[in-house]
Amino acid sequence: MSQIESVLQENRVFAPSEAFVKQATVSGMEAYQALCAEADRDYAGYWARLAKEHVVWKEPFTQSLDESEAPFYKWFTGGKLNVSYNCLDKHVEAGNGDKVAIIFEADGGEVTKVTYKDLLSRVAKFANALKAQGIKKGDRVIIYLPMSIEGVVAMQACARIGATHSVVFGGFSAKSLEERILDAGAVAIITADEQARGGKHIPLKPAVDEALDLVAGKSAIKSVIVYKRTGGACAMKAGRDVWWHDITDSQSEVCEPEWVDAEHPLFLLYTSGSTGKPKGVQHSTGGYLLHAVLTTKWTFDVKPNDVFWCTADIGWVTGHTYITYGPLACGATEIVFEGVPTYPDAGRFWKMIQEHKVSIFYTAPTAIRSLIKAAEANPAVAPKSYDLSSLRLLGSVGEPINPEAWMWYYENVGGGRCPIVDTFWQTETGGHMITPLPGVTPLVPGSCTLPFPGIQAAIVDETGADVEWGKGGFLVVKKPWPSMIRTIWGDPERFKKSYFPEDLGGTLYLAGDGAVRDAKNGYFTIMGRIDDVLNVSGHRMGTMEIESALVSNPLVAEAAVVGRPDDLTGEAICAFVVLKGARPNGDAAKAVIKELQDWVGKEIGPIAKPKDIRFGENLPKTRSGKIMRRLLRSLAKGEEITQDVSTLENPAILDQLKQAGS
Ligand code: WT7
Repeated sequence: MSQIESVLQENRVFAPSEAFVKQATVSGMEAYQALCAEADRDYAGYWARLAKEHVVWKEPFTQSLDESEAPFYKWFTGGKLNVSYNCLDKHVEAGNGDKVAIIFEADGGEVTKVTYKDLLSRVAKFANALKAQGIKKGDRVIIYLPMSIEGVVAMQACARIGATHSVVFGGFSAKSLEERILDAGAVAIITADEQARGGKHIPLKPAVDEALDLVAGKSAIKSVIVYKRTGGACAMKAGRDVWWHDITDSQSEVCEPEWVDAEHPLFLLYTSGSTGKPKGVQHSTGGYLLHAVLTTKWTFDVKPNDVFWCTADIGWVTGHTYITYGPLACGATEIVFEGVPTYPDAGRFWKMIQEHKVSIFYTAPTAIRSLIKAAEANPAVAPKSYDLSSLRLLGSVGEPINPEAWMWYYENVGGGRCPIVDTFWQTETGGHMITPLPGVTPLVPGSCTLPFPGIQAAIVDETGADVEWGKGGFLVVKKPWPSMIRTIWGDPERFKKSYFPEDLGGTLYLAGDGAVRDAKNGYFTIMGRIDDVLNVSGHRMGTMEIESALVSNPLVAEAAVVGRPDDLTGEAICAFVVLKGARPNGDAAKAVIKELQDWVGKEIGPIAKPKDIRFGENLPKTRSGKIMRRLLRSLAKGEEITQDVSTLENPAILDQLKQAGS
């Protein structure tokens, strides 16, 4: 049975316990409905009220929502604020400076605790160092760092001086860095000598050097700031590269925040779309911060005594909103973890929850599925071998969670007492869009349930008309919301075309996912992407990006990439390749497969390596030369071809491609 069918047939319902409801920030279904009704009555007024209550403004805004240049919406016009002030100074000024902000656990297990006062001082010093490097408001700064306190400090310091950061995940290659450096027009890169993961040291700085060689003469990069993480060998280029500690240690601990307009771009984050070129998703300051705060308070129910742990990397949007910004803006204590869930063994997450008394835990279905497997193979690393009684709430993000994994998470990790919030959102949405609220929503395994209060999520057909509950369609959002993407950096036309397509009328935000609402209660279930984007272990990958990487290899004439379901990673990448030379067999095929996998790893990053590669003398094409991807998807799954193949130019090719190459 497919994952979606099993969700649709799901009839287990888990209502929140009375005790949870009683203490929850949003308590009970009536409270939820009252918020939704308030937004329906006075949409702009609803968000304005929340923005006044949950964000500290240096100067108040004079208009809530400006639709005059739709779909380039503006929120909180006239307002001035600083995100770093809201995350740090605010708490220190309120007398909470000695509260622990970050509990950092290194790959090897060493623990460092940083209070709000310490964090403010570190951010202010580094912000002063950035200014001394000539970096100023509006400049773009690339951050290519491992999970670290410094990663959070670097992002917060950019926010403090009004520089727009663009974090690049440490697993991305030099080529990916090159693309982002040029597209963003970045002036500086903040990186580290090496990263420590799973007991190994992996060089990081060489990728920056290689990227800068590739962009020589074309980029605006003036400095590279290097955090010494391991002390491993690290070449430094005089006049360009400086050590983090050298430029920071003697700086003043005082740095007046740069008060910026609500719409000032806080960050760009590149993500995959349906073309070969990643999109620089641009986020605002005021609207983004509001949603980061609200969702941390309402979805995660974060309270002063909580220990919050989001296991994402700061290289993804989840790490931005639920590590660097949301929890700190709420004054929470949070975990930042450098390592991997399976080192030194697959009990690492559970051991850390036990030791740090984590109360709210937020992770991805892929991690859960791999830990289920590990626990089945070795009871010593199973959750039941640890004391997880500190947990009170669990979260899931990044991909659909199958009901089986949901139940295991609920029973084995949450001990049957912790609600699970299955949060649907995207890089473009800035924060949660459709999610249970833990003191409100009866849970159904595999469903992300109902929209966050104020979010106008709906399902429509190809003309933009609403479909009835029970019928599938395109997931859209009918009204702009404060934390939405503002534009694609440098490409406003692509922004309009991708997210507000004319076919749907031009006013609906198109998420890019298919979805269905339950016929009885209207709960949403996400059915996966409707575009050429794959979701592998909760990471978004464009099929076109992988295809371009493959065809840039001298052996390859043509390539088509599709996804196929995978028990562990959700989707797996499957590539159909036509070589320039003869179609290889046996060991020769294996060698080429390995070579192409490594090639893609180097071009994009290891997460983009195709799991399967199959060779054909051609690809299935229509007479007009269009690749029939639907057929490739069936072949990748190992399904019998039942589709009509009469329009196919070369039906014999299907037999060839049926034979797995790997
Ligand atoms: C895509 C966005 C949201 C931060 C991490 C991923 C899929 C995300 C869920 C969920 C089903 C989900 C969608 C979406 N997705 N969360 N709870 N249930 N699918 O951000 O890289 O921008 O990817 O991830 O397909 O469009 P992203």
